[in-house]
Amino acid sequence: MNKYAIILAAGKGTRMKSELPKVLHPVCGTPMLQHIINKLKKIDVEEIIVVIGHHADKIRAEIKDKVTFVEQTEQNGTAHAVLQALPHLQNKQGTTLVITGDTPLIEDDTLETLLAEHTENSAKGTVLTAIQEEPTGYGRIVRNLTNSDENGTVVSIVEEKDATPSQKEIKEVNTGIFAFDNESLIQGLPKIKNNNVQNEYYLTDIVSVFVNSNLPFGGFILKDSTEAMGINSRVQLSEAETIMRQRINKKHMENGVTIIDPSTTYIQNDVVIGHDTTIYPGTVITGSSVIGSGVTIFSNTEIHNSTIGDTVTIRQSVITDSTVESNVQIGPFAHIRPNSEIKSKAKVGNFVEVKASSLGEGSKVNHLSYIGDAEVGSNVNVGCGTITVNYDGVKKHKTIIEDDSFIGCNTNLVAPVRVGKNSLVAAGSTITKDVPADALAVARNKQENKDGYAPKLKSKKQK
Ligand code: UD1
Ligand code: CA
Repeated sequence: MNKYAIILAAGKGTRMKSELPKVLHPVCGTPMLQHIINKLKKIDVEEIIVVIGHHADKIRAEIKDKVTFVEQTEQNGTAHAVLQALPHLQNKQGTTLVITGDTPLIEDDTLETLLAEHTENSAKGTVLTAIQEEPTGYGRIVRNLTNSDENGTVVSIVEEKDATPSQKEIKEVNTGIFAFDNESLIQGLPKIKNNNVQNEYYLTDIVSVFVNSNLPFGGFILKDSTEAMGINSRVQLSEAETIMRQRINKKHMENGVTIIDPSTTYIQNDVVIGHDTTIYPGTVITGSSVIGSGVTIFSNTEIHNSTIGDTVTIRQSVITDSTVESNVQIGPFAHIRPNSEIKSKAKVGNFVEVKASSLGEGSKVNHLSYIGDAEVGSNVNVGCGTITVNYDGVKKHKTIIEDDSFIGCNTNLVAPVRVGKNSLVAAGSTITKDVPADALAVARNKQENKDGYAPKLKSKKQK
């Protein structure tokens, strides 16, 4: 049986009060719509059709996967949205999943089960339902309880705005996810009318259409109702974020990562973490970061789009778009800015900023330094307070420090400049010329001592 999917993503998302289309709002770093596409990819559907309308261009630009975009120029309701996609299902036999674009928590296993249930019951349509203790805002599932089926059969779905007080009491809701036999959907959908409070074509009315045409329609109740959550507001967005964050943290813990306090650890969807890594509270790891094994990340660290090797220790630091190799020590309070590469066994310590620079194996920049646009070799010691003077007010220039050299404290390296291998720069120097290998560079005023002058100066001042 061929499987297809239609995702409804044309709505404005008025309740979000946002310039960004609702389905592009991220949950744990990934847009809602992308979450759904990712799950559909796991269950091998032949084609994913995405119905877009509001800010269609933004959605087209964001989604990189191979999907078919269909435009719904006026948002006249969910049935009207599905209608726009039907030409793509013409003459294609099989089952189509219809999914509202604002249900990012849905799991691929659930979609598989829905399809299996739909096929097993020889239904022409099946709605995925959920029991919500707080059903406000969802369409309610009306069942005929006199039927022999233990739950009764689904006879209609009533939208909140059209529901009677007693229907509002119903806790079984429409998740907005359906499975349809293609042919029945193509025949039934045009029969839906817009005679309701909102004058919209509701997809939910398909149930009555099928029932009236004696086409078997089923309702499959979801086990974990959190999966069904539809996001209409920022409050619901934050609730979804919490649920997804818990899922992500649980997955890492099951893979052997220690998370001291999962409720304050924020790890985005695509992050990969090795076993025996320990993460302290207040850590944020985002983008496509990859963290090795045996790593210790202490509190209040932020890692974005970076690769961290094995057994690295990071304390209270920020690392962005960079690579840190194994056995490195970072922090406390280090800032590794984009395009930096910290080679193995190196140390970047207290209040050190590194930008677009490489730091060789075993090299140390332990205190209060700025290393920008620099290439630092291996086993280099950069003394406290060293600054690469990389910017002349117009252009950035490069500093090269070769292997085994020693940069004394409080040195300015005025770029472009090269410090040769195994050389020594005296503390307090302002280096403006290249330093040859093995040389000692001293670039500061000679010290002058005036014997016995201190007490004289003092009494002079007191007068
Ligand atoms: C919808 C269902 C409701 C269900 C809930 C589940 C209908 C009429 N109601 O309500 O029964 O409980 O989802 O979350 O189906 N969209 C379009 N074009 C349109 C209108 C909507 O593409 O003309 C898209 C939206 O972008 C959104 C999705 O369809 O992704 C659902 O629309 P929304 O307005 O959020 O529907 P709900 O009121 O939540
Ligand atoms: Ca919704």
